[in-house]
Amino acid sequence: MKILVINGPNINMLGIREPNIYGKETYTDLLAKIQNYANERGIKLKMIQSNHEGVLVDEIQAAYKKFSGIVINPAAYTHTSIALLDALKAVGLPTVEVHISDVSKREDFRQISYIREACIATISGHGTDGYLEAIDILIEHKKKK
Ligand code: DQA
Repeated sequence: MKILVINGPNINMLGIREPNIYGKETYTDLLAKIQNYANERGIKLKMIQSNHEGVLVDEIQAAYKKFSGIVINPAAYTHTSIALLDALKAVGLPTVEVHISDVSKREDFRQISYIREACIATISGHGTDGYLEAIDILIEHKKKK
């Protein structure tokens, strides 16, 4: 099983950006945590991060027929991007939306997720463990198929 893990803008600043909201773990720590979890489960991963919406669209399109599922934290693009929603719908891969913080308890402008309707699940507010839960959801989803 091959999973694509996508992180959007400013996730590369983890550990530096608003640690009271996003925690002290760095992006490098996050990658190592996800990679170890996947290794223990025999899952292959590609992990990418970009601050550019078009690059994220390109990565989703390139996943078509190459990956069994996507874990995505689109960060701020969650709340703005119809292009990401359309890309996820286009490839039709099982996708789990992840947010490190609990967006439901934050500003009004974070209450909209354009991508949610293309996702089989959303995990919000579980810190970086949310990425691991998302992998579990994709594993279970594949078993049911
Ligand atoms: C985020 C929440 C978003 O609202 C924000 O723009 C982010 C990170 C999260 O992981 O909690 O950059 O997706």
